[in-house]
Amino acid sequence: MFARSAARALVTPSTRHFSSSSARHTKVAVLGAGGGIGQPLSLLLKSNPLVSSLNLYDIRGAPGVAADVSHVDTPSEVKGYEADKLDEALDGVEVVVIPAGVPRKPGMTRDDLFNTNASIVRDLATAVGRVSPKAHILVISNPVNSTVPIVAATLEKLGVFDPAHVFGVTTLDVVRAARFTAGIAGVKPSDTVITVVGGHSGPTIVPLLSQSTYGKAIKGEVYEKLVHRIQFGGDEVVKAKDGAGSATLSMAYAGAKFTDALLRALSGEKGVVTPTFVKSPLFESEGIDFFSSNVELGTNGVEKIRPIGPLSSEEEKLLAACLPDLKKNIEKGKAFVA
Ligand code: NAI
Repeated sequence: MFARSAARALVTPSTRHFSSSSARHTKVAVLGAGGGIGQPLSLLLKSNPLVSSLNLYDIRGAPGVAADVSHVDTPSEVKGYEADKLDEALDGVEVVVIPAGVPRKPGMTRDDLFNTNASIVRDLATAVGRVSPKAHILVISNPVNSTVPIVAATLEKLGVFDPAHVFGVTTLDVVRAARFTAGIAGVKPSDTVITVVGGHSGPTIVPLLSQSTYGKAIKGEVYEKLVHRIQFGGDEVVKAKDGAGSATLSMAYAGAKFTDALLRALSGEKGVVTPTFVKSPLFESEGIDFFSSNVELGTNGVEKIRPIGPLSSEEEKLLAACLPDLKKNIEKGKAFVA
């Protein structure tokens, strides 16, 4: 079961100003709900008291997943939709989580998924833009560095893009950074919350260990190995699953955690801050208009994009390596829609 209190402590270390009696309940859809991520993610969202109804869509299998998940004894209503029922699944929803698409096999990069996933994400974004143009869209499908610009450009074409409503889910990088750093420091992951900035693939993942009390004490070879593990942690899972896919369970946890952070903010909780990949002014002068950094979430989604803060000399180098790759990934996504 989703450890809500532990998850919240990681997402919002600051004091929360929130009364549960004022909680707003939200209609959520999961697109790709029959998949390796979609199924456990749907289960975790079913256990979230801020969700009033859960519409599960997939090209195949979603009604079965919905029937199964619907028996969990929480108040939300669950319905399953497949094939040509996408518009029905999106009717009236306020939050749409997208884990649809193919995952990596050993030896593949996230960019190798582009050819298949770009059109899946574009078509789903088109439907959201048409049916529920005000919905918040949470993109899990890889390559996130390109699929988020694809969603934004698709909505722009439809004249309904709101930069406060489109998020790339980079939470798994944040979860891994906390877990791996805690293992080295010998403390709890809630004590090693690490801000991860940049994008969501290999060298574009930039963990800011110097901004954490325990993280900044890690030096030399241990530091180098930790950064590499945070950047390439996904490869460990792809290799261990040996052709059966990539991270699904930890990703479902991370996806549920980010969704919970957004739902709390939409319902009026103050001080919800978490890294996410959004339309961002931070590196716009260098031609990079999407970037992941700490974002304050509010009742309308993105409320404030925080600066990345002071960097160590190693982090300056990591950022310098991130930016050109990220720029290419973003341009590739935009070019696909254009
Ligand atoms: P999976 O293959 O197990 O599930 C994908 C599901 O999407 C399948 O059920 C499939 O039927 C469905 N699907 C395909 N086309 C669709 C469409 N047009 N509309 C609705 N559903 C459709 O894959 P898995 O493991 O669940 O991964 C999904 C995506 O998440 C992949 O792109 C993967 O790379 C990405 N991912 C992202 C992570 C992140 O940190 N953001 C971490 C791990 C994976």
